[in-house]
Amino acid sequence: MTPSGTTRGRTDGGGAGGGGDGAPGGPWSAAWELLLPAASAPARGRGRALQSALREAVRSGRLAAGTRLPSSRELAADLGVSRGLVTEAYEQLVAEGYLRSGRGAGTWVGEAARAAAPVARDLAPRGAGVRVDFRPGVPDLSLFPRAAWAAAHRAALDRLPHAGLGYPDPRGLPELRAALAGLLARRRGVVADPEALVVCSGVAQAMTLLGTALRARGHTAVGVEDPGSPEHPALFAASGLGTRWLPLDGAGLAPGPLAASGVRAVVTTPSHQFPSGLAYTADRRAGLLSWARSVDGYLIEDDYDGDFRYDRAPVGALQGLDPDRVAYAGSVSKSLAPGLRLGWLLVPRALLAEVVERKRTMDLGHPALDQALFTDFVERGGYDRQLRRCQRAYRERRDALVAALAECLPGTEVTGIAAGLHVIARVPARYGPQPRLLAAAGEAGVALRPLSDYGSGTAPGAGPVPLVIGYAHLTPAEIARGVRALARAAGP
Ligand SMILES: Cc1ncc(COP(=O)(O)O)c(C=O)c1O
Repeated sequence: MTPSGTTRGRTDGGGAGGGGDGAPGGPWSAAWELLLPAASAPARGRGRALQSALREAVRSGRLAAGTRLPSSRELAADLGVSRGLVTEAYEQLVAEGYLRSGRGAGTWVGEAARAAAPVARDLAPRGAGVRVDFRPGVPDLSLFPRAAWAAAHRAALDRLPHAGLGYPDPRGLPELRAALAGLLARRRGVVADPEALVVCSGVAQAMTLLGTALRARGHTAVGVEDPGSPEHPALFAASGLGTRWLPLDGAGLAPGPLAASGVRAVVTTPSHQFPSGLAYTADRRAGLLSWARSVDGYLIEDDYDGDFRYDRAPVGALQGLDPDRVAYAGSVSKSLAPGLRLGWLLVPRALLAEVVERKRTMDLGHPALDQALFTDFVERGGYDRQLRRCQRAYRERRDALVAALAECLPGTEVTGIAAGLHVIARVPARYGPQPRLLAAAGEAGVALRPLSDYGSGTAPGAGPVPLVIGYAHLTPAEIARGVRALARAAGP
């Protein structure tokens, strides 16, 4: 029953996707990564897992609009599941608008899927026709400290010996690891052993590296928060791992579903949950750690915006409580610029050798000059100054957003405001339902992301419409203009 090398062989050879039904093989090759773990899920949840994996393949863009799917018979045979399960999954996704069925035989990825596209769209250049873009994901790139960066570049070049331009230690330059260890211990309360620190291309590469190490230790799937980042499943799929969406309650990851999930590693954003914005309670943080110990597993802490907390000091990282159970990942993507592709990973001892070897075989180490530059920037206090500057600007923008929502869309409940670069705004039902609100916003040139785009969620029915509103990249004036335009367009 388990999809095997045979399945992959057929796909790679143009089988399932490129066979008699005429569907192209390329998109299917990418989608397999997501479908295979679902096919080997426990029988009771296999149908749901398949639906959710297929939905994710469409949302993440792995299956583009217009792609023709294999027949239910072919897909069932290739995945080693019953045909009924595939038919049911197709029907469900047709009903939800992700797929469409044509006259006669045939199922395609629907055009509507474009509207529910992946966070990669958040990360992509902002589109034409968009006047105010509230999609979360990027900081204010105009705050990038160009002059200080250029000075650090010059200083790094002057200081770097010729030998420093050779292949670097795959963990990163020792002086950068030492500087980062000091910074992270001071700012985030981590236990930062420079020997266990790996400099990498952002949180994204940290996830891939950890995924490979976990795969090598027999893990087949990783738990991810629901709602959560749509990037995580795709990143783990690249390491051959499936993902299980695990629900949150008001305090963090719900213990029951976590315990029942069968996974032994879970990705978590405890300081400012992405995207809901909740901060895990102390009890729930302790509960997560005892769960990890009880299953001999790991927590993967994605500290993507942990530095930005407005109303009190940042909550220390979970990793500080048990560095042997918690891998900690962070980057400069929210504090400087995502285009730098610069991040770090603190690795539990048991996984360190595997992670370092994987980093070596992946790219022979992070670019040496970038590392030398960043070392200089951190050592001279440039990074601390940048964080203080952003913190001031973003607090002001958050306040502008909260005020504009209260004035223009009264009754909107705003949560997750204490930290980070985005909030959750629950717009009252009278402005909905969701598809109408999003369409009206789009016509008015206001780009928005609903909460239902993150995780396994479906669009809410008649209730308030939860939106994930990014504000850090907009000035207070732009924020006010965008909220006014939204209110005018959506007005009941
Ligand atoms: C929750 C979360 N984690 C990780 C990332 C990726 O971060 P990086 O640019 O460091 O790879 C993002 C990107 O926006 C994110 O939102």
